[in-house]
Amino acid sequence: MIDLRSDTVTHPTSAMRKAMYEAELGDDVWGDDPTVNALQERAAELLGKEAALFVASGSMANLVSQLAHLGRGQEAIAGASTHIVEDEQAGHAVVVGASIHQMAENPDGTWDLDELEQSFRDPADPHQPITGLVVLENTHAHSMGQPLTLEYTRRVAAIAHTHGVPLHVDGARFFDASVALGLTPRQLAEPSDSVAFCLSKGLACPIGSMVVGSKEFIHRAWRGRKLVGGGMRQVGIVAAAGLVALSDGPDGTISRLAEDHANARRLAEGLAAIPGVVSPGGLAQPTPGRLDPSRATTNFVIFKVLGDRAAFLAGVQSRGVLLTEYTRGTIRAVTHYGVTAADIDRVIAACAESLRDISAPAAPGAGATQPTVTAAALER
Ligand SMILES: Cc1ncc(COP(=O)(O)O)c(C=O)c1O
Repeated sequence: MIDLRSDTVTHPTSAMRKAMYEAELGDDVWGDDPTVNALQERAAELLGKEAALFVASGSMANLVSQLAHLGRGQEAIAGASTHIVEDEQAGHAVVVGASIHQMAENPDGTWDLDELEQSFRDPADPHQPITGLVVLENTHAHSMGQPLTLEYTRRVAAIAHTHGVPLHVDGARFFDASVALGLTPRQLAEPSDSVAFCLSKGLACPIGSMVVGSKEFIHRAWRGRKLVGGGMRQVGIVAAAGLVALSDGPDGTISRLAEDHANARRLAEGLAAIPGVVSPGGLAQPTPGRLDPSRATTNFVIFKVLGDRAAFLAGVQSRGVLLTEYTRGTIRAVTHYGVTAADIDRVIAACAESLRDISAPAAPGAGATQPTVTAAALER
């Protein structure tokens, strides 16, 4: 199977498995695990922050960051389509006790900054919650993984800081952004007060995420991690993989993300040439018509097919390819470690064949209902 459902399906590299086998361990709730401590120091150094914390997942990274930044009854500002708003069971409300003011997003993942200015609450008005955090998602998933630039991040940070509010970046795919923009992680992290990033996505580790920020912030996040049951013991066994991922040497998995980006572009170009593959609409590509391969700038490709989506996906699966349903009737493919350019060519062929099958006229007497392709489908 060529599995492009997500970059979370990656398996650890052999260097990671070896490091995990050999990892020096201790009880991390006591602060005694030397491998976790080394990973936290490395993450902080790489992103140019004072301290870092190893946590179980990207959702936990965002949750403990909110616990550290926000008081009960405060409000965060975040993009309407982002993971923290849509995909974390409203942890901001359930656990943190905060609300979220949702920002409309542009197809490059950005916001209107005049609107941002208007979105901070008036602390003098007792009817209103107090704005306590601004959250950006970089890369921005629903815009087909667009990387938010350093200049834009600086502008958002400057506005937030004028209001005395910190900026957190949900950088589940932060290194995809830095590689795509040709920046060091430290440069891209510079305007933010905290960054969360996942080891378990494109970096190919089996488990884990990091949060980085000031010592004071990390101390609060560390308390939050214990609160949500995230204190782990000999967890250096998984942190060891993270140290390999973040290393500068040949076993590190940051610089190879460029290969995933090239594969995503190759896939988008191949798909765009297939009759029946069309623009996904929405933030991913608002212009209707042909899929625009230039939208694939990191490791996401989002598209629609003219025809029955479930039948199309079943058809590609029968040819050894897994893709996934995404929002608003779209399909998502995510490139990652272990997927080669030759695999991408197989995926393109499987998509072309599956689409041909679902658009072929029914054989006489087959009784199958064929999907009707309408111009309106292009507009969806
Ligand atoms: C942008 C973003 N943030 C956070 C997460 C959460 O990561 P996890 O699945 O490790 O909880 C994801 C997961 O897909 C994500 O895409």
